[in-house]
Amino acid sequence: MKILVVGSGAREHAIARALTTDTTSHEVLVAPGNPGTARIAANVPVDPLDPRAVAALAVQHEVDLVVVGPEAPLVAGVADAVRAAGVPCFGPDAAAARLEGSKAFAKDVMASAEVPTAMAYVCTTLEEVAEALDAFGAPYVVKDDGLAAGKGVVVTEDREAALDHARACLSRAATPGGDRPAVVIEEFLDGPEVSVFCVCDGTDAVALAPAQDFKRLGDGDAGPNTGGMGAYSPLPWAPEGLVEEVMERVARPVVREMARRGTPFTGVLYVGLALTSRGLRVIEFNARFGDPETQVVLARLASSLAQLLHAAATGRLADVPPPRWREESAVTVVLASHGYPGVPRSGDLVEGVAAAEELPGVHVLQAGCATDTDGALVSAGGRVLSVVGVGADQEEARTRAYAGIEQITLAGSQHRTDIAQVRA
Ligand code: AMP
Ligand code: GLY
Repeated sequence: MKILVVGSGAREHAIARALTTDTTSHEVLVAPGNPGTARIAANVPVDPLDPRAVAALAVQHEVDLVVVGPEAPLVAGVADAVRAAGVPCFGPDAAAARLEGSKAFAKDVMASAEVPTAMAYVCTTLEEVAEALDAFGAPYVVKDDGLAAGKGVVVTEDREAALDHARACLSRAATPGGDRPAVVIEEFLDGPEVSVFCVCDGTDAVALAPAQDFKRLGDGDAGPNTGGMGAYSPLPWAPEGLVEEVMERVARPVVREMARRGTPFTGVLYVGLALTSRGLRVIEFNARFGDPETQVVLARLASSLAQLLHAAATGRLADVPPPRWREESAVTVVLASHGYPGVPRSGDLVEGVAAAEELPGVHVLQAGCATDTDGALVSAGGRVLSVVGVGADQEEARTRAYAGIEQITLAGSQHRTDIAQVRA
């Protein structure tokens, strides 16, 4: 197959890597890609937010499948345009991507489909926010309704900080569609978080291996929320039957509800869960693979990713065997630039990637990277690299990932030292 991957992060590097090491061989293009994807696939320039440009590229290169990585192109209608051009696309139409693009919409779908989630109020004024905060009490959970790259959520004991975040969200301009800015105030969910990616074909769904993401910047879950600072899979502590419960109580009902509404969901339904003392609750949906969880989930995939995604994109999931997994663990540690998640600094030299990749069980996926005029690798974004370690068990995978990190130098860089620490 000829496959076009849209995006330029470590997730897209991981997808391209899985496609190029697939059980059968494929030609892989990445648009626009990064210096890392250029080493394993062909990078083609495109504005990923321009639906017509992406569709034209897919037609021009006569690809058999387009896989859209990030959420912004999906919300912008890239999948609609690609499908309209007659090319199978793995990723939801804009109408279905609203499951991620609007938290209020996701809550509405979950209510219709009777999916367990946090109780919530959608507020458009500060007075409503104050009432909702007091109804739930501390800790307060305040979410920007729209896309915020994982940074729109504030969880705090401090009522003033909660109000400040709500004020900032509500003071944004109305969206081009005319929607008023809104915030979602939720009850606080305790318990560990799990990410389960459900591959959907519009009517059917199949789950990939669960992973856990570390969203806060600092060790011990201190500091601000980020896009994700590390991840591991599998989860040796996860309750038995977790994935089947997610399929039964979340994925299948949501896929049915989306089809019933006339906006069938094709792509990854990313189910972010809290395993609370009262049972599982959905924290969030995303409409795409998670980053950095994809880096560890795909590192363990033993069956064909291309076959799975193509079957989903063409509504034929039932025709392919369920995914198979290697009996190994994978851990990824994200190396972020100085200033992330605020204003990241660009242009710092990134050294040691090749040395890291010489270590056993280590590979390095690139994200916010560029090559300078001398051809040297430099930082060009917040999350710069995802260093992945694969090993016989979680401890070995973790040791390998951190051995990889040790090889890399980037001035002012930040990473967590407690990713996938085995629980006592
Ligand atoms: P979201 O963007 O909705 O995934 O939220 C980002 C992070 O905020 C989650 O991964 C959680 O760690 C935290 N969070 C979101 N909602 C809640 C909640 N209702 N209770 C506790 N923590 C939450
Ligand atoms: N790792 C969280 C996300 O992809 O949204």
